[in-house]
Amino acid sequence: MTAFKYNRPKGTQDFVPPQSERKFAVEMLFRELAGLYGYREIVTPTFEHTELFIRSSGIASDIVTKEMYTFNDRADRSLTLKPEGTPGVIRALLENGLRLPYRLFYIAPFFRYNRPQKGRYREFYQLGLEALGEASPLTDAEVVYLGVEFFSRLKITDCVVRVNSIGCRSCRPALREKLVSYLHTHQGGLCPDCNGRIELNPLRVFDCKNPECRKTLAEAPLPSNHLCPDCQHHFEVFLDWLTVLGVKFEVDASLVRGLDYYNRTTFEIISSALGAQISLGGGGRYDYLIEELGGPATPAVGMAIGLERTMFSMPEDQAAESRRKLVFVVWTSEKEFRPAWELVNRLRAAGIPAQLSYDRPKIRHQFHLADISGAIVAVIAGETELLRGVYGIKNLKTGEQHEVPVNEIVTYLKSLIGG
Ligand code: HAM
Repeated sequence: MTAFKYNRPKGTQDFVPPQSERKFAVEMLFRELAGLYGYREIVTPTFEHTELFIRSSGIASDIVTKEMYTFNDRADRSLTLKPEGTPGVIRALLENGLRLPYRLFYIAPFFRYNRPQKGRYREFYQLGLEALGEASPLTDAEVVYLGVEFFSRLKITDCVVRVNSIGCRSCRPALREKLVSYLHTHQGGLCPDCNGRIELNPLRVFDCKNPECRKTLAEAPLPSNHLCPDCQHHFEVFLDWLTVLGVKFEVDASLVRGLDYYNRTTFEIISSALGAQISLGGGGRYDYLIEELGGPATPAVGMAIGLERTMFSMPEDQAAESRRKLVFVVWTSEKEFRPAWELVNRLRAAGIPAQLSYDRPKIRHQFHLADISGAIVAVIAGETELLRGVYGIKNLKTGEQHEVPVNEIVTYLKSLIGG
């Protein structure tokens, strides 16, 4: 019988140690930072009714038209694994009757059926936040600033912030009219997808990566040139406040983003760390979405950061410990097993991570286990040492050996692992 080989599904990944630990550290930093700015964590289901995404992410968006993991459950309901976080947060806000304004953050896996490549997966994690019920352009700037601060704390220094304004309900009709007529006269230079977008959602064409479309759009009427006075003012205050906050930014007049719910501010934080320019995070204002999903008219702005892309862009920490904060207790014969086990319990009670082998292998094997466990130190509970009231110590990083009195072991190990 041939053994079946299991592989993870295309576009998914495993986080094995130490990557899983790095992931945890990045998530903790985001939690801490979001908390500092007054955001509280929200957890929503991994799947939602498909309709929610169609109504919010947008019927003309690539996400909805090509990338959703949609399935019918056994009762024939159409459900979708969430491709992004914002719609579920709004649904939960309305369903739970949360009082506005409310700042919420989330850390979760999301699912998009796209062509996997480095930094693009079918299952990926986002660190996201939403400031619900806040209308000021200063909130927009603060959201961007939080993102920039997050990357700078991770020593990701090659970030560029791109910003734009795509207007509101009152300035869009005039833009739309001009844009549609421009697109109709340039149909030959547009890909089939963009041709399909002309009537459905013409702004979407600016999001197309096709070089031919980009060329065709070089002369197209741009949203930021058609802002009404209120949107113009919002944009100017947003840019001024970014300057006050010391955020370096570029205005990118074609930045419309891939989701349909945005109005006014859109932004992306880009890094060149992966070779090609990729967006580490992005977001914007969405003042109509809550109303469109059945709630009261409520302004809102948010952002999501890609966790994997962030981890790729982080500099390798040269000073990273090759060994972890773990003590491996080695026992030399059956008689020392019990005192060794008691020591492990004492260390754990004192907050020191400790482990020993229950499998009674030879000492040589125990040292091998200590080594591959990544422990920083082995404590040897040997017959002669215990009779003399000491433990043998082997520093697994340096190889250096010495002895420590039994009653000083906790203090000694605490200072060694910095606990
Ligand atoms: P998004 O731009 O679609 O925005 O995604 C945000 C970030 O998620 C991207 O900048 C990228 O880092 C990461 N990301 C997206 N797709 C993938 C993928 N296939 N593989 C790896 N990483 C990926 C949103 O999702 C909006 N909900 C953000 C938002 C929140 N707007 C307002 N509030």
